[in-house]
Amino acid sequence: MIEIINLSKDKPYKIFKNFYDSALIENQKSIEAISIASFNPRKNEVESRFVNLKYIINNEWTFFSNYESPKAMDFSSHSQISALLYWKRLNLQIRLKSKIYKSSKSFSDNHFKNRSIEKNALAISSFQSKETPSYVDVEDSYHKTLKKINIQTARPEYWGGFSFIPYYFEFWQGHENRLNKRHVFEQQDDKWIERILQP
Ligand SMILES: Cc1cc2nc3c(=O)[nH]c(=O)nc-3n(C[C@H](O)[C@H](O)[C@H](O)COP(=O)(O)O)c2cc1C
Repeated sequence: MIEIINLSKDKPYKIFKNFYDSALIENQKSIEAISIASFNPRKNEVESRFVNLKYIINNEWTFFSNYESPKAMDFSSHSQISALLYWKRLNLQIRLKSKIYKSSKSFSDNHFKNRSIEKNALAISSFQSKETPSYVDVEDSYHKTLKKINIQTARPEYWGGFSFIPYYFEFWQGHENRLNKRHVFEQQDDKWIERILQP
């Protein structure tokens, strides 16, 4: 589930919410899984990975991650991302383009405070994407952290939210006859320019 709060009244958001509600009714699994593609200018490489989208508040989309992970390094040197959702139950793809930035500290603190202690133990104990001698080391470190922490434990500086405000949406609806429908919204100044693309 994505927590949707005071959603923007702009047209792409209305369309998004209608699809989201339909996907929920259709019992779409992993509805919050969103692929985020980033660019690393030093390596001249593009990479993508799924994360769980936790919130859309007005027009700001937020997920949580490690601030020292490869994706975080990518975002800090190149803030442009491409994001992608696919809801199979609706045969719907949603493509987004945006700049990305760290969420406010207070927002991350608040989210951290409301998570389970098990999830927080993992956020604290894992140096995400760093090599480890074995999976057993990962488990040991997690269990040691879990023993040490409690509900008062503060959010570590190296973990928090990433937020983005898309300026581009494409809703792609697949149809059995291949007459797929592509509906694009691109924000220019304060207006959304609406276009239909050929399939
Ligand atoms: C469905 C799904 C959801 C995921 N959600 C998150 C998430 O919310 N935050 C996160 O840091 N990693 C999440 N991951 C793991 C990431 O895909 C990735 O392995 C990790 O963030 C390291 O990425 P990086 O090395 O590119 O920084 C998720 C993976 C899957 C398959």
